[in-house]
Amino acid sequence: MTFGTTDCSLSCPNHADRPSPFEFPVGQVRRVAAANPPADGEVDETRRNVLKLLAVAGLVSAGAGGLAGGALQYLQPPTIGISSYPRVQLIDVDGSPLTVAKVESEYNAQTSDLYIFNYPLRNEPNFLLNLYPASGAPNGTNGAENVPGGVGTHSSIVAYSAICQHLGCPAPAISYYPPGTCPKTFSNATYPTLSFYIHCSCHGSTYDVTNGASNLTGPAVLPLPQVTLDVDSSGNIYAVGEQGPPVNGHLNTLQGDYGVGSTSSLVKETPVILCSFPT
Ligand code: FES
Repeated sequence: MTFGTTDCSLSCPNHADRPSPFEFPVGQVRRVAAANPPADGEVDETRRNVLKLLAVAGLVSAGAGGLAGGALQYLQPPTIGISSYPRVQLIDVDGSPLTVAKVESEYNAQTSDLYIFNYPLRNEPNFLLNLYPASGAPNGTNGAENVPGGVGTHSSIVAYSAICQHLGCPAPAISYYPPGTCPKTFSNATYPTLSFYIHCSCHGSTYDVTNGASNLTGPAVLPLPQVTLDVDSSGNIYAVGEQGPPVNGHLNTLQGDYGVGSTSSLVKETPVILCSFPT
């Protein structure tokens, strides 16, 4: 696979030492958290069932000698996770509830830092984006409005998985690129010159943030999962579900770690910017 060379200098953070597809540790963002209790009293039903099984097996073992004990060695480690999508309130980086008013005053399509929150599991990061431009009058070269799944005054506040659907590079290797960051533009039904997107520096996959994070360039062939957002009567923002395929590297989006609890805080990260598109 070759990459374009017209758009990024050797000073780009990942240019000199970008890993090959075979060197990248698939599933790097997974975290085994069996030693930690679920947050906020959340019940991990799978783990509880395994503990019940162990208790029953122990009783059988006591009555039947070493037979059950021999069988226990074949038990697999429990698959941790949750049974359904929780309603999780989002918290801003300053510790206050994230509201539509705060997002629209603090974040816009030109915001270059990444704002990440985990949902629904602790190892599933997502981008929080407000695609409305600082200047208003969005046209695809400066920002967007009426985005599918968007909330807020301009339906421009969205959230997408921050784990690439190709081989699982997490943010900040996969980052949001504000308008004009790269010279490359795309077209879709709404915007003939789309100049902002989510782009993965690992191998060049690009996602349309104005259209469900659909694929603009491969090698990824699946869109990023989109977090379903909801706003209460006070303007507080909640994550309440997810649309699209499972998060990369997870059997499904609800299995692979403990749930985040009743709230999830934004964390600011510096993006890795590398404008390399497969040719
Ligand atoms: S992990 Fe390969 S393009 Fe993102």
